[in-house]
Amino acid sequence: MIRKAGIGDAKTIQKLINAFASQDLMLPRSLNEIFENIRDFWVALDPNGRVVGCAALHIVGWDNLAEIKSLAVHKKFQKKGFGALLMRSLLEEAAGLEIEKVFALSYQPKFFKKFGFRTVPKSRLPHKIWAECCHCPKFPNCGEIALVKTIG
Ligand SMILES: CC(C)(COP(=O)(O)OP(=O)(O)OC[C@H]1O[C@@H](n2cnc3c(N)ncnc32)[C@H](O)[C@@H]1OP(=O)(O)O)[C@@H](O)C(=O)NCCC(=O)NCCS
Repeated sequence: MIRKAGIGDAKTIQKLINAFASQDLMLPRSLNEIFENIRDFWVALDPNGRVVGCAALHIVGWDNLAEIKSLAVHKKFQKKGFGALLMRSLLEEAAGLEIEKVFALSYQPKFFKKFGFRTVPKSRLPHKIWAECCHCPKFPNCGEIALVKTIG
């Protein structure tokens, strides 16, 4: 099951993300950042109602553009379709908001390509995203791939 996140999910979301961040698979997120952006988040639940995955759709600037962020499925629950469900929820939400384009920065380009994303040079992304990148210890030499999808 997939649902929008609530404030009570923030700590679990942070655990999920930061477990992968500690393996350098994604960027870490502070609890404060998750609380402030909790309305961006969706969560995936196992049959017992425990949160096993998360993902966020974050509107960027005024160009009908949004970023897909913090997509993570607990290791034990991967390859069961949760990632795809989260991605579809974000894409449906983006369409409902009349977002024209979504993008992501990820080390998993193959996963994103399954959903119609194509790789683009990072320089094609709006300058606003560099504000976040500038604070990353890996900047400017991170290996994340920029991916873009036009919403139908
Ligand atoms: C990437 C991730 C979210 C995928 O979640 P998942 O629940 O395992 O994905 P699903 O089971 O829904 O898989 C959907 C499809 O993508 C494929 N897939 C899953 N992970 C993939 C990967 N890393 N590379 C390529 N294909 C992948 C699956 O085989 C499946 O294909 P199919 O429909 O042809 O069978 C998960 O592996 C994860 O949390 N990784 C660590 C964090 C991370 O790298 N996040 C990426 C965004 S920053």
